[in-house]
Amino acid sequence: MKTYKIAVIPGDGTGPEVIGEGCKVLAAAAQKFGFKLEKVTYDLGGARYLRTGETVSDQTLEELRGFQAIYLGAIGHTDIKPGILEKGVLLKLRFELDQYINLRPVKLYPGVESPIKNKGSQEIDYCVIRENSGGLYTGIGGSSRKGTKDEVAVQQMMYTYDQVARCLRYAFDYARHNGKKARGIGPNNTLALVGKSNVLTFMYELWNRVFDEIGTEYPDVKREYYHVDATCLYMVSCPEMFDVIVTENMFGDIITDLAAITQGGLGVAAGGNINPFGVSMFEPIGGTAPMWTGKNAINPIAAIGAGAMMLTALGETKAGAAIEAAIAATTPKMKTQLANQMGYTTTQIGDLVVSAL
Ligand code: IPM
Ligand code: MN
Repeated sequence: MKTYKIAVIPGDGTGPEVIGEGCKVLAAAAQKFGFKLEKVTYDLGGARYLRTGETVSDQTLEELRGFQAIYLGAIGHTDIKPGILEKGVLLKLRFELDQYINLRPVKLYPGVESPIKNKGSQEIDYCVIRENSGGLYTGIGGSSRKGTKDEVAVQQMMYTYDQVARCLRYAFDYARHNGKKARGIGPNNTLALVGKSNVLTFMYELWNRVFDEIGTEYPDVKREYYHVDATCLYMVSCPEMFDVIVTENMFGDIITDLAAITQGGLGVAAGGNINPFGVSMFEPIGGTAPMWTGKNAINPIAAIGAGAMMLTALGETKAGAAIEAAIAATTPKMKTQLANQMGYTTTQIGDLVVSAL
């Protein structure tokens, strides 16, 4: 029987609760589709940091390289200064494992309420590919003359040709295989580059040039370009115009939160940190929700969706699609996607998805 080695990082806050439901659904899928998941749990995150002063050790990092995927809950702690866990755990894993793609499907499941009126599952069904290794997140910068009126702070947006090229190549491939034409729901597979070429002229001379250069190898993918500010407007007014979006790291961080709320919020939105040639990591994007920790009240749909993405990435595409379908059969039964207002507990939602599966 095919066996996959998965590292599970439940993390902090409600992370363990949602990952628990995700694992329940993954186990049911494994049984139904005839494969095995060999899971090893890693205790990483804020609670561990407070106990030991350690974020992620070199040893842990080496071990994680030996898995086929990582399934992550949430990392964060109200008693820890912002930046320590983000840089020490989440970004460290993304960077060290070179997960250079952040894949964010934006899909409004049936019965899920979007704050955009008159737009349903047909219209809100696209995907954002966020470059996940460079840009402002490279962490280059500094400050001087601190505390004076001449204080200067610099944080640099930087990209290498290779970083841009590998991201765009992934995006073109993704659009070719998962665009709206490939999925039988539109006339084209379209890839839209999102940037700010009217102001960030150096940066977007590079991105646009490589976009056109690689794009010639993909005559079956239609190319579009939008400025990031206009994209925010269209994501609300006309989400149906999008198919696959590709953008740099910080723009991607911002627009994927906007995208998340249009698809019903953080209880629903799942993402993958992808290294197409290495170990990828899948996570609900909702965070730790400290207020709901331990109450069996948080929405596990995003974590379950991240599990489906993980199986698809591992090549278990039928199982991934079956979980997606089971989610789509469950969301109409829920009152809302908000914690404590779903009409069901966290564990009951997990059970509903399992029985739909
Ligand atoms: C995300 C998060 C992270 C990011 C933070 C927690 C570092 O906002 O996954 O979108 O900025 O990438
Ligand atoms: Mn973010």
